[in-house]
Formats: sequence, structure tokens, C-alpha cells
Amino acid sequence: MSSTAHMHGGIGESIKRKEDGRFLRGKGNFLDDIVLPNMLHMAILRSPYAHARIKSIDTAAASAKPGVIAVVTGELMAQHKLAWMPTMSGDTQAVLATDKVRFQGQEVAAVVAETKAQAEDALASIEVDYEVLPAVTSPDGAKATGSALIRDDKEGQTDNHIYHWESGDEGTTKAAFAKAHKVIRLHTFYPRCHPAPLETCGCIADVNPATGKTTIYMTSQAPHAIRTVFALVAGLSEQNIRIVSPDLGGGFGNKVPVYPGYVVATAASLLLGRPVKWIEDRTENLISTGFARDYHMTGDLAVDENGKMLALHVHLDSDNGAFFADAQPTKFKAGLFHIVTGSYDIPTAHITADGYYTNKAPGGVAYRCSFRVTEASYLIERLVTNAAIELGIDQAEFRKRNFIQPEQFPYHSATGWVYDSGDYPKAMDVALDKLGYAELKKDVEARRKKGEVTGIGIASFTEVVGAGHGADYDILGLRMFDSAELRVHPTGKAMLRMGTKSQGQGHETTFAQIVAEELGIPAQDVSVEEGDTDTAPYGLGTYASRSTPVAGAATAMVARELREKARKLAAHLLEAAEEDLVWERGKFYVKGSPERSKTIQEAAFAAYTNLPEGMQPGLEGVHYYDPPNMTYPFGTYAVVVDVDKGTGQVKVKRMVAVDDCGVRINPMIVEGQIHGGLAEGFGIAFMQLITFDDEGNCIGSNFMDYLIPGSWETPKFELGETTTPSPHHPIGAKGVGESPTVGSPAAYVNAVIDALSPYGITNIDMPVTSDKVWAALRSKGVTE
Ligand code: CDP
Repeated sequence: MSSTAHMHGGIGESIKRKEDGRFLRGKGNFLDDIVLPNMLHMAILRSPYAHARIKSIDTAAASAKPGVIAVVTGELMAQHKLAWMPTMSGDTQAVLATDKVRFQGQEVAAVVAETKAQAEDALASIEVDYEVLPAVTSPDGAKATGSALIRDDKEGQTDNHIYHWESGDEGTTKAAFAKAHKVIRLHTFYPRCHPAPLETCGCIADVNPATGKTTIYMTSQAPHAIRTVFALVAGLSEQNIRIVSPDLGGGFGNKVPVYPGYVVATAASLLLGRPVKWIEDRTENLISTGFARDYHMTGDLAVDENGKMLALHVHLDSDNGAFFADAQPTKFKAGLFHIVTGSYDIPTAHITADGYYTNKAPGGVAYRCSFRVTEASYLIERLVTNAAIELGIDQAEFRKRNFIQPEQFPYHSATGWVYDSGDYPKAMDVALDKLGYAELKKDVEARRKKGEVTGIGIASFTEVVGAGHGADYDILGLRMFDSAELRVHPTGKAMLRMGTKSQGQGHETTFAQIVAEELGIPAQDVSVEEGDTDTAPYGLGTYASRSTPVAGAATAMVARELREKARKLAAHLLEAAEEDLVWERGKFYVKGSPERSKTIQEAAFAAYTNLPEGMQPGLEGVHYYDPPNMTYPFGTYAVVVDVDKGTGQVKVKRMVAVDDCGVRINPMIVEGQIHGGLAEGFGIAFMQLITFDDEGNCIGSNFMDYLIPGSWETPKFELGETTTPSPHHPIGAKGVGESPTVGSPAAYVNAVIDALSPYGITNIDMPVTSDKVWAALRSKGVTE
């Protein structure tokens, strides 16, 4: 991949990331790098129990410890009406527990001290008298008669059920099942996992007692939404709140919610008149902040005698933890799970979902995912491979037979989605070619005859990214649009500010490239700023791969608007009619006389020095973009594995990933995104699990138990691409960040199941660890 500094940096050029200069030199500005004068430090006392009534809290001894300035309890927060806060799914969540603790790791009290060590030391001196209650650790447990009532704080709540939700058409689906040649069923569990960003969550709250201005430096993927929520919850004037999200060391959905620590630190700063810093350690991050997934799913696929899919029925039980805090648009109770028909032309479908409270941390964040599309994609792709195996049809052939065809776009799915564009057979063909599929199949057959355990897994995922449009997608009622403000300075250099917030995705580079393409100002002459609510235009932030589809579109639109003003300026300078000017990237020239031209930089200078009569000076603008639809990236991933019968160890021999995210702005950055996502998908498929014992103790609370894939484990990735532009996006781009995490787990697991299929093994839930594979083989009488 070539990447050179002299490039103009327009769309399609793999220029190097502008932000890497400071990151590679250790000059990034992350939350823990920020030190304010007179700053205090906060540490949080967390519950050791999953479910217990709080009988009393004694803070006297802790208050007397060296350096301690204050001990904050739920009672104190309640005096300021801040003991509870709203969640993103319209539920309530305890900020500091007052009545009960409902999960292990829940926030009970906080110490504010002169140093971090003093704050942490004093936690041990807070005496809490708990009455331990039985813990509920699964949806089945939550449903069981006589199970403990978790949310007795909620009026009218008599059991642990949160919601029932349906999508699709029950009647037509039932009728189609009645006529089916065969029904294939898969029951599977997508386990609780965690985004585990390199940098944990934290904030510095700085309330200025003189001006009333509250500045909060916060690890937030959505600073504007947080500002509004703080204004509404705390009753503060929104113009007096400034959220600054500095450089973020990853987010992956973990940095979308408001966490109790943010609220307590802000309240402490307000009460004490000094800045208060709080930052989690790794265990706090893993046990108490937004988890992902935890869906128990049963899928039934009806097919006819020709292997054509007739109907899909899915039921799922969602384990939501103690507070229903899923990050998702209010309209969709189970997120975007109903995209579960995937890449297939399934005439009818019916989805039912039930959510349950359990004694686990709340969350349900979209970990590199658009609101549960990952669970949906996993289910359908696992089910399709199982169906192919059961029907005796080749996995690739079965998919091809049922793909939505290119001419069917825009495609209306059975659950009400309109897919914008796609060419699924092409992506499949590129992947199979790269893999050498026909030869590989023969090799698998031959090796199986020799008793070896080997298999190929395929997943042809369809994704849905780029939330909104605003009428259907919101956070707590705030419509999901996004924004870009572009200022071109007199010397022709530019500054772009956006409502999104990079966490390492390279926005400072790629969004400058859109300006370079549209206005002809080289990418290195365009600075990109995000994350400061006092300066950036309002936007809903970065998650669900929405930055390119939404803020990227806003950038193209505002650049085009400025180009039109620049055209007027060039016409004035050239003493020509506007309509006689031709635009060629970077300059206007008079039709038929290319030597009579003015560059964009000359037009910019004129905007401040030599204007046509009546024109407003300056060359700047802002565009708020509410997309007409989501974008639907897709791809085919294929994995080859060998399984050791003696140990159950799985070796991923090849991983081919063909992605289509429409027009690629920076192909090198896109490939980096795909590599990262495939590695995360590998971790989820084979290594990672946040689990709990029967008492609700969280197992998987550190990186010795919750494993992060490193270069040693991660397979080599072989990438391919096709390009099907989005018809409604100004530059034809679709999001890509989450595609590999969404699409790859099913491909990895399908490969293992294909390898084990000769022994009648049809499912192993993730993580597919050696011991599970070993036990599955032994259960079928297979030994070394
Ligand atoms: O919202 P988020 O930035 O996480 O996801 P994204 O919109 O998929 O973008 C991830 C990175 O890939 C950004 O730097 C994008 O601008 C870049 N990208 C690209 O160069 N071309 C695309 N078609 C999509 C994303």
C-alpha cells in the first residue's frame, strides 16, 4: 500500500494518518494527561455483592483519613436529587446506591481526596452493613417463580421482566412454516463481552464557583448528547456546560453512556468548588461499565425442497442486567436485531424478544455494532451454515441460492428495512476465488477421509450503519443527525469542526480528504477538530459506524456549499459569468479558455479582500445532515480451521475477508479498521467471556481472565474488496468500522462447526475454547 506525503489527499488516496505524529511521539492528550490546578481525586467504593440490602453506611472513619476532603454517599446525592439518573433506554439507574445494591461492582460511595492514593486508601474505612439477598444471574433465573425481585424501587414492577417486543408478520410466517419442506433450528447464546478499550473511562469535572461554568473533560464518544443530558438531569443551564472529549484511547461503544462516576465527580466539584478527577482502573471498567451482547437466541429457518428459504422465526431473551441501559434508539426495544434476515431474500419473518433484569452490570452498549446488529448477523449466519450442512447443500451454494439479487435493490426486507445497495454474489465470488474454494473443498474431503478434523466457515453478512435518519433514530429523543462546520481562512487553509468524535479511527485524516476532494484544498491544509462542545457544531457523536455515513456526508455538503460561493468569487475575479466557469478540483476556469483561471485559494482570499457588491465577507458554513436512510455495507468472510482431536485446539489456518463499504475515502485506513475488527471478532469467537457464578460474582474482571487477542493468537488476514456505492450518500460511502466485528464471529464458528459436522456436532457457543471442543468431540465418542 503506497502512502506519500505529496499526495493531494482526495478520496481514494491512502495518505498517512495526520494524528499519528502526536500519538507515536507520546504527545497525545488523553484524559489522564490532563492536570488542572488545585485538582482533587475521586475513588469509588463498589459493592462486593450482586444483590444486597444496604442497612447502613458509616463514613466517619473514612472522612478522618489523611488527605480526605469529602465522602459522598447516595444519601448526600439524594439531597440534591441526584441519587438516580435516567438510562439511555428510559429506565432509571442508581448513581450511588441508597436502598439496595443490584450488581457486584455497583457504585456505593465515593471518596474525594488530595491524591488518588489517599482516595483509594480511604475506601477501605467506609463501613457498609449489607443484608445479602439471593442473586439472579440469567433470564431463566429471572423468569423462575419465586425469583428475587430486583427492581423493587420501581412502582408497579412485580417481576423481573422489562419488555416484550415483536417485529415482522406472525401470520404469514406461521403459514410459511406450515408448508415447509424442512425447518432447521439453532439455539445459541451470544455471550456477554466487553469493548475493553485501551483507555478506561473517566472525567475531570471543573465547576467554576465564580462564573458557574462547568467544564467536564470526559472520555465520551458523544459529548453533545452528554451536555444536553447533564443540563436536563442536573438542571444546569446548557450554555454553562462545556464537555471536552480529548484524545480517546478507543471507545467501541463503551464511552457512549453516562456513568455514575461522571455524575458524582461533577456533584463533588460543584459542592467543593475544586476540579475533581475520576478515572477507572481496568477491573472497574470490566465489571461496572457497559457490557455488550448477552442474548439467548433461538432461530427457526423454513426451507422448501429446492433449498429456498421460505420464512424465519426468531425468539430471543435479553439479559439486561440490573438497569435497562441499552444504548439504542427509543423506537427499537431490542435494538436493530430485526435486521436478522441478513443478506437473504426471505419472504416473511417474525421476531419476538423479551428483556429481563438480572443482578449484573447494566449496559447493552453497541460494542463496535449498530444496536444489536452483531447478534442478528451472528444468528442468521450460523443458522444458514447449519441449514446447509443439514440439507447437504454446499454452504456457498446455499447462500447464493438465497441471496438478495443486485437488481432487487433498494430491497424491502420482511421486517421493514430498505437496504440501499448491494451485490452479494460478487463479494462471495471474490472471496471464493481468493480462497481457491473448489480446490480447498477437495482437500477437506481428502483429509477427512484420513481422519483429520478440518473445515471451512463462511459468513455473508449484511450490516446496517449510519444512524439516522432522525425520524426513526434518536438518543433519548435527540434526533440522530450530524454536522460539519467548515471555515476557509484568507490564505486558503481550512478548519473543519464536526459533531462526531474520533476514538482512533483517523477522522482528522479522512474528513480532511473529503474537503480535499470537494474543494481542492490539500488534506494537509485542512485541520479537523472534534469533541469540544463549546466549539464544535451539535452532533450525536461517533458509534455504530455513523461518522462517515452522517458527518462525512455533512462535510461533503458544506464543502459543496462553499464551492458555490467560491464560484461567485472566482467569477468576480475573472470578470466572467458564473455559468461560464468550469470546476476542476482546486480551481475554476473559463469554459474554452483554461488559462483564465482562479484557484480555490485565490477565491478564498477574495472572500476577505475583494468581494462582489452585496456579498457577505468570509468563506465558511455549517451543514446539519439528516440522512435519508442508513447505509448497508456487506461482505463475505471465509475461515479455514484445523481441529486437534486430542486437545480440542482450533487453529485458524486462513481468514479471507471481502468487504464492500461503498466508496473508500482512505483505503489504508479502511484496511486498518478491518484488521482491528477481525481481531476483535477473533477474540469474541475464541477467547472472551464475562461470566458470573451463581452468587453473581463477576468472573472475567481482569485481563488474565478476559483475554485480549494479541499478535501471537491473531491469524493472518487476507483482504479483498468490492465497491457498491451507497446511492443516497453524497460521496457514495458506507460506514465500515464495525463490519468486521459484526461479520467475523459467525465465520470463525462456522468453520469449527463445519469441521465437527461429520460427528453430528451442530453448535458450540462462543467462546469456542479448546475444552468445549474437546468435550463436544468426546460426547460423540471421538478420541485421539
Ligand atoms: O463512526 P466511525 O468513525 O467509528 O466509523 P466509520 O464511519 O466506518 O469510519 C471509520 C474510519 O474509516 C474513518 O476514518 C472513516 O472516514 C474511514 N472510512 C473510509 O475511509 N471510507 C469509508 N467508506 C468508510 C470509512
